[in-house]
Amino acid sequence: DAVERGDYAHYMLKEIYEQPRAIADTLSERILGDHVLEAAFGPRAAEILPQVDNVHIVACGTSYHAGLVARYYLEQGARIPCTVEVASEYRYRNPVVQPGTLFLAISQSGETADTLAALREARKIGYVATAAICNVAESSLVREADLSLMTRAGPEVGVASTKAFTTQLAALGLLGLAIGQRRSVDRRLVGVYARQMQRVPEMVQQTLKLDAQIRVWARHFADKHHALFLGRGPTYPVAMEGALKLKEISYIHAEAYPAGELKHGPLALVDDDMPVIAVAPNDRLLEKLKSNLQEVRARGGRLFVFADPNTGFTPSDGVDIMTMPEHIEPLQAPLIYTVPLQLLAYHVAVLRGTDVDQPRNLAKSVTVE
Ligand code: G6P
Repeated sequence: DAVERGDYAHYMLKEIYEQPRAIADTLSERILGDHVLEAAFGPRAAEILPQVDNVHIVACGTSYHAGLVARYYLEQGARIPCTVEVASEYRYRNPVVQPGTLFLAISQSGETADTLAALREARKIGYVATAAICNVAESSLVREADLSLMTRAGPEVGVASTKAFTTQLAALGLLGLAIGQRRSVDRRLVGVYARQMQRVPEMVQQTLKLDAQIRVWARHFADKHHALFLGRGPTYPVAMEGALKLKEISYIHAEAYPAGELKHGPLALVDDDMPVIAVAPNDRLLEKLKSNLQEVRARGGRLFVFADPNTGFTPSDGVDIMTMPEHIEPLQAPLIYTVPLQLLAYHVAVLRGTDVDQPRNLAKSVTVE
């Protein structure tokens, strides 16, 4: 193999553990003091970024989930509207383009057929410019987009994407800040966010220490047929990514819901045979999330909660709590909370004896429609 697996049982596990380095590499030399260096997006960045009034993101699979997180980064960090769509829908929709829109494709490989076709379509229809966030510098996507920001995840072998996702989030954080600083969003705030992002690699490193505890949790899932993942705000897409990981490699049916939507359907499914995994950062939606979780308990659902240290969650009958190593800021939350969900999916798949790195019916890169 061109890429060594070393002592790790699977590439996926190795790639999960490579995340602190991969995220650090993706941020490296792209932030100077409290400023994001636009040159990282390519030679035309200084000309294009000032014209951007909104962003339309297109991607597939895990990269689509990164796009859903980016919506929060762009709206909160840069105060500009952002829409997100899967590429296979976008390419046949004949979209109406708002003036001042940047088209952004996100792709690990840069060769996904639907994402590439969407980019080619977008180049014809009146965007300010096209941009790519991608992990492969020589890819078609990077060659054809006006701007590009490379994630520096290194080669990803496991079909289920891990380090490519978290490095995409880091890159999207940089994009939010780069556009934010152009739009005279409070300079000091850009600095605060930039510093929060730079702490992420160390925080991911600490989070990886939960691995042994997560392996114990995995035993509760191995014989289940369904699982429900809940999040709110920017951790809702994280819940989606957690559900996708579990589906992809353990073949357990998993769904993600924004916790506030529980009562509009999925609550009917909750019983003691369907574990519910919740991501509970200590943000302004915490109290609402707590009452959502009580609804699950009241129906006999078994809860597994990944919680910020200051959330005041206490374990009780049917409620397992895993406390994160330290307080996590909203900007950091998607990158940090993704890690335990990746590990959970991994350990469940190992217990079920599936082919973790090469799940059935899936491909690393879908280059045909
Ligand atoms: C396939 C892979 C996923 C990936 C998706 C998009 O489905 O199995 O892991 O997220 O393609 O790939 P891309 O290279 O465009 O990010």
